[in-house]
Amino acid sequence: MSNKTILVTGANGEIGHGLIKHLSECGDIHIIAMDIVPIDEPVKARCHHIVTGDILDAHLLETLSTGHDFDTIYHLAALLSTRAERQPTLAHHVNVDGTLNLLEITITQSRLQGRRIKFIYPSSIAVYGLPDLETKQRSGKIKEDQWLLPRTMYGINKLYNEQLGRYYANFYRQLDAEPPKGQIDFRGIRFPGIISAVTMPTGGTSDFAPEMLHMAAKNMEYKCFVREDARIPFMVMPDAITALLKLQAAPFEKLTQAVYNAGAFNPSALEISQILHKAFPNTKVKFDLDYRRQAIIDSWPADVDDTAARRDWDWKPEFSLDRAFSEYLIPAVQKRYSANSYDS
Ligand SMILES: NC(=O)c1ccc[n+]([C@@H]2O[C@H](COP(=O)([O-])OP(=O)(O)OC[C@H]3O[C@@H](n4cnc5c(N)ncnc54)[C@H](O)[C@@H]3O)[C@@H](O)[C@H]2O)c1
Repeated sequence: MSNKTILVTGANGEIGHGLIKHLSECGDIHIIAMDIVPIDEPVKARCHHIVTGDILDAHLLETLSTGHDFDTIYHLAALLSTRAERQPTLAHHVNVDGTLNLLEITITQSRLQGRRIKFIYPSSIAVYGLPDLETKQRSGKIKEDQWLLPRTMYGINKLYNEQLGRYYANFYRQLDAEPPKGQIDFRGIRFPGIISAVTMPTGGTSDFAPEMLHMAAKNMEYKCFVREDARIPFMVMPDAITALLKLQAAPFEKLTQAVYNAGAFNPSALEISQILHKAFPNTKVKFDLDYRRQAIIDSWPADVDDTAARRDWDWKPEFSLDRAFSEYLIPAVQKRYSANSYDS
């Protein structure tokens, strides 16, 4: 991976922090990082060039594109599910129009460079929409083509963006007498909820798991907004980063679909609280149901079938439920909060 130029949008977010740390340790990669908010100093120090700006600013993106030849774009910038539900029009602009802007500069780059440019897209299990809890419990592991009836603006945006990616990769301006040269190599992962020991999430519906973890480590009571039996898939941040890098590195010929499920473990909210209780005996979780957010969780699968990812790009999570908590999450938050740093 030498001398590559990589653009990361949403660089100051949870995944951006982890991804940029990893990319900067991989060798001679020029990282161009963009976010609407100023990028934190430790992340900044790992980047070659920083842009503070909005992905809705097409002119800014064009200027950025003129100055660099990108090999890969990780398009992480988005409004997450809870925030998107509160501001659906804004979410549609940022999540869909912003992605369209990124796909446009990618197709221009691929035409000018005369080669495929990789576009790595973090989609979500929010693209699924099971009609009721009984169907969810009955359906088990969901395959990529099942239950694509999202009930949130975020899920709808993600599903549509996957389709946009497929269009730009395969059918862009297909009626032109001479279809434009160059192509987008669009690759997406439908992530489950991601739990990081380092950063606190904001604005996601799966946030109850990481919030419970951080509150337990801080010795504070947590009001959990879902029921005890709420169950969706999760993975830890190191595995999410590995998944992005593995999908990015997979040979083009091996990929049989544009978007893949990737799973790791799927505890219920009660099971998470019990694991935390063993590590932090003072853990207090009050299940204080928010029916509206619970309804969203009930529409997301209890688990995903990731056979295709395992077959095509060798996906295999390193962290099972046990390892995730005992070797990564609990030691990391213990260290973090014992250092009197209650800053986030
Ligand atoms: N964290 C998860 O559990 C999870 C699960 C599935 C998919 N994803 C997807 O992964 C991606 C990254 O998620 P994350 O957890 O790092 O989210 P995050 O909210 O921590 O980060 C998103 C970043 O995008 C930036 N951003 C928002 N609007 C922008 C705009 N208009 N222009 C430029 N930057 C903008 C934000 O400032 C933020 O730093 C998102 O696309 C998200 O949908 C995350």
